Amino acid sequence: MPFIVVCGVGMEQMHSAVMGNVLNPAYTPSMQYLWNHPMSLVQRAVNIYGSIHFGFVYKHWETVPVVQKEINKHFPDLPPILELEKNVSLSFINSHYSLDMTQPFLPSQIEVGAMHCRPGKPLPKDVAQWIEEAEHGVIYFSLGSVNRGEFLPANYRNIMIEAFTQMKQRVIWKFEKELEGLPDNVLIRKWLPQQDILAHPKVKVFITHGGLLSSQETIYHSKPVLAIPIFFDQPKVAAKLQRAGFGIAIKLKELTVPLVVDSLNEIINIPKYAKAVGQASLSLRDQKETPIDRAVWWTEYVIRHRGAPALRSPGADLSWIEYLCLDVLVVVHVGIFTLFWVSKKLLALACRVNKKKKTE
Ligand SMILES: *[C@@H]1O[C@H](CO)[C@@H](O)[C@H](O)[C@H]1NC(C)=O
Repeated sequence: MPFIVVCGVGMEQMHSAVMGNVLNPAYTPSMQYLWNHPMSLVQRAVNIYGSIHFGFVYKHWETVPVVQKEINKHFPDLPPILELEKNVSLSFINSHYSLDMTQPFLPSQIEVGAMHCRPGKPLPKDVAQWIEEAEHGVIYFSLGSVNRGEFLPANYRNIMIEAFTQMKQRVIWKFEKELEGLPDNVLIRKWLPQQDILAHPKVKVFITHGGLLSSQETIYHSKPVLAIPIFFDQPKVAAKLQRAGFGIAIKLKELTVPLVVDSLNEIINIPKYAKAVGQASLSLRDQKETPIDRAVWWTEYVIRHRGAPALRSPGADLSWIEYLCLDVLVVVHVGIFTLFWVSKKLLALACRVNKKKKTE
């Protein structure tokens, strides 16, 4: 059965390599590095090593063997997953060049980043009123659905609450529990329609954990951020948002009341942050078709063409030795070495003959 993979974490080297497109480590940092372009000599060297090491550990050590063992238990007749994955027809990548970096993609690698983003819909009445009556605008605070607000240790939570008391703006906070002693300008809800809030013109800044989808939403809705990353890819996303000029990133460990207050005031009052994210938003929205239409069209294409084998890159069939032409390099090196060796021997022979003639 033809199948399509979804690359949820965005552009990822191993996903791409399986399809026959090894992303260039000279400018594509591996998942675990926060580096920016351009990378220094040392960073590029570490990146090449890290990319190989990460891929090896993933495939042959930590992840795939564990999953494979479990699959074998339940489906003993299935081919190995590393064999199965080679037959992938298409890959949907959760990225877009205006969010990420531009990469040379194969026709079988389709960027559908921010496909879930859409214009804002009307808000629930109480939330709408709370936002509209905010004289100085609104700060929206959500740590996403994975690291829920209640995972924020109490000391950090108290820092945020203390900082909010010092702000003129109203704060709307996605938090799963009731909290005692909140200042008047803070509204808590268990669940909030994030995109509809971000779409509201009165919302001035988004305090986010730097999740990939939250970052796409904030760019789509053109809202600057205060990013407080917690784990996984969040430090990387937060660093990217800060580098792109869309806001400020703070490490959880460095959180203090004045730092939060000053950062929020800077993001709200200095227009450069809103301007930068506004430009990215225009670029992200300016597409020939929506990412959803694109995904639907390509899915139907794969169905119409029974797995669309024409899309398959010949690079996907090569071993990594062939792909990197290492075999050619070895042959060339051996050839050059042999040539030198033979020339040297011939020269030595010629000298000996010459010497012999002279002494005679
Ligand atoms: C991959 O596709 C080819 C051609 O359709 C098929 O012969 C082969 O069995 C498939 N491999 C796996 C592991 O499914």
